[in-house]
Amino acid sequence: MNKVWLLVLVVFCHEIFSNGVVTNISTRPAVVNVGVILSYNTHIGKVAKVSIEAAIEDVNSDPTVLAGTKINLTMQDSNYSRFLGIVQTLQFIGKDTMAIIGPLNSVTAHVISQITDELQVPLLSYLAVDPALSSLQFPFFVRTSQSDLFQMVAIAEIVDHYGWKEVTAVYVDDDYGRNGIVALGDALVEKRCKISYKAPMPPKATQDDITDILVKVALTESRIIVLHTYDDPGLVVLNVAKYLEMMNSGFVWIATNWLSTILDTDSPLASNVMDDIQGVITLRMYTPDSKLKRKFISRWSNLTGGRNANGSFGLNSYGLYAYDTVWLLAHAIDLFFNHGGDISFSNYIRSTELQGGSLNLDALNIFNGGNLLLKSILQVNMTGVTGPIEFTSDRNFINPAFEVINVIGTGFRRVGYWTNYSGLSVLSPEVLYTKPPNRSSANQRVYSVIWPGQTIQQPRVDMFNGYCIDVFTAAHGFKNRTGERTGKGSGSRTSGPTGVGPVVER
Ligand SMILES: *[C@@H]1O[C@H](CO)[C@@H](O)[C@H](O)[C@H]1NC(C)=O
Ligand SMILES: *[C@@H]1O[C@H](CO)[C@@H](O)[C@H](O)[C@H]1NC(C)=O
Ligand SMILES: *[C@@H]1O[C@H](CO)[C@@H](O)[C@H](O)[C@H]1NC(C)=O
Repeated sequence: MNKVWLLVLVVFCHEIFSNGVVTNISTRPAVVNVGVILSYNTHIGKVAKVSIEAAIEDVNSDPTVLAGTKINLTMQDSNYSRFLGIVQTLQFIGKDTMAIIGPLNSVTAHVISQITDELQVPLLSYLAVDPALSSLQFPFFVRTSQSDLFQMVAIAEIVDHYGWKEVTAVYVDDDYGRNGIVALGDALVEKRCKISYKAPMPPKATQDDITDILVKVALTESRIIVLHTYDDPGLVVLNVAKYLEMMNSGFVWIATNWLSTILDTDSPLASNVMDDIQGVITLRMYTPDSKLKRKFISRWSNLTGGRNANGSFGLNSYGLYAYDTVWLLAHAIDLFFNHGGDISFSNYIRSTELQGGSLNLDALNIFNGGNLLLKSILQVNMTGVTGPIEFTSDRNFINPAFEVINVIGTGFRRVGYWTNYSGLSVLSPEVLYTKPPNRSSANQRVYSVIWPGQTIQQPRVDMFNGYCIDVFTAAHGFKNRTGERTGKGSGSRTSGPTGVGPVVER
């Protein structure tokens, strides 16, 4: 439908149905443009797409939210490409877009933030969890989920709780991985612990790369391994680790929330995948139980049914945050209009005396209301499916909290919670918030974990001495990096690291 007709229709409907409930409509446009960039073919992207579409339908069908103004959403699939993400951002900006939701990963967010900052278009991301993105360098970037900063503090407190002093960090060598691990290092130092070995993986690591990396990890002192990566490579790492017998008792694997995201989205996982991840600890962004959340969860199978060829998939915590991000933006746009904001753009070229040359830079527009919209976003105070939403002065969501999850059997079990308020506890965050904060070590508790090797015996520090490492090395022929491994590991399973199931296909 042509835009003018849509506008006429919206205003017309509004006149009929609003019955004077809404004031100063004349200052509000019928439609505002919002862009969304995500990667449909990922655990997070496919779930977020459904959530965002549902949210926009809900927002647009509720005339009390924006006094009749509709949000016109344009979605783009960046297919995990940083370059496409940039091109799409520029396309949105040429279309008078007042805000952008997305993009998928922290790496792309770093680049896109530079564009959106320059053109004063707020960029909301429920996903770019890289702690470095909250720096003052990117004023128009707003994170609408929990920062990895808190997840890393949670991991450091888990390490400290069990009395371990050193960890090995296996991570993807990009902004997301590196900055996450820097935050982990800082958090560990606060607990007088440290990262004793860093094992960066290339972002497109092959199984051979991963095998080489894990062999080096196996030869280090620490058996406490923190795995901070993306979903698909993460499963490959755990599969190779299983093959190398690094999933035996004595090892500890703490996976950041990429693993809980897979468990939530794709459960039940194939049994060979579950075999690979037994005993792993992972974290999940905590969202309290509520009527609103339960209502959304009950709609989920309807929302996913029939929308995709591969059958339905589960809702993960990013899906909940994606849904709330749209509502948060809608409330912010309402505040923006209440503060007298209007949607106007000025040409970037004219304001910077930049010569476009053969590039078509005329399409670049600065959003004049950008600062006001940003201010409005940070002022929102609402309750969504993820619980109460409000920003702290350092632009984090209030009450950061995670669930601590232990993968066992055919599923997983919550063994406790971590809150910024009281550290580790078996009590739910809502209960903790009613008590005074208490971080005394006597108060830190989680239920017992079943560790790799199906043991409830807590892996000890410095369990492995040189002798064990030598035996381990000899048993696996690790000195021979590319040749076939003749140790007992190679015969113990038919699929091995070269025959992992379809889950790890990229
Ligand atoms: C628009 O109406 C809201 C209340 O509905 C009011 O707070 C605001 O001041 C009004 N804005 C203008 C520009 O009149
Ligand atoms: C987390 O806790 C620290 C220390 O108690 C506090 O300074 C900070 O504001 C908290 N952050 C959030 C987002 O609640
Ligand atoms: C914190 O918890 C510990 C152990 O449960 C208790 O002994 C202590 O009194 C608590 N401190 C406060 C301030 O409540």
